[in-house]
Amino acid sequence: MERTLVLIKPDAVKRNIIGKIIDIYEENGLYIENLKMISPTRRILENHYDEHREKPFFEELIDSLSDKILVAMIIKGDEAISRVRKINGATDPVKAEEGTIRNLYAKSIRHNTVHGSSDLESAEREIRIWFED
Ligand code: RTP
Ligand code: MG
Repeated sequence: MERTLVLIKPDAVKRNIIGKIIDIYEENGLYIENLKMISPTRRILENHYDEHREKPFFEELIDSLSDKILVAMIIKGDEAISRVRKINGATDPVKAEEGTIRNLYAKSIRHNTVHGSSDLESAEREIRIWFED
């Protein structure tokens, strides 16, 4: 069993669709191992998105999430990391495949509803940040 870190971002929490999103993961045979609601500090988010520190959208990305309520989850299952990313769909909702969470619910590249870890190393790092620090 593999574990991955998923965030249900504030745009989805505000629209009252937490349940709909969790249902999609569960319907796909994945399991919620842990879950909490949290308003993350900038420090947590800067750590989480460390790989994007030099990107032009970094500050806006951190601003759009900091101090806003989101859901952090550990999701587990066979090949959970890649399966979650497939279920989430492309970063830009316009490019997200039909039936993916971002295709169904995301409003824009910034407000794109969910996050899923990109690989094993990131998953372990992100689970530590959100659940073990
Ligand atoms: P995530 O990390 O949130 O699961 O998304 P991702 O892997 O699909 O995308 P990534 O490249 O890691 O980007 C992280 C988040 O930054 C925002 N973003 N904005 N050009 C832009 O303005 C831009 N590019 C990325 C998105 O909210 C993306 O989820
Ligand atoms: Mg990413």
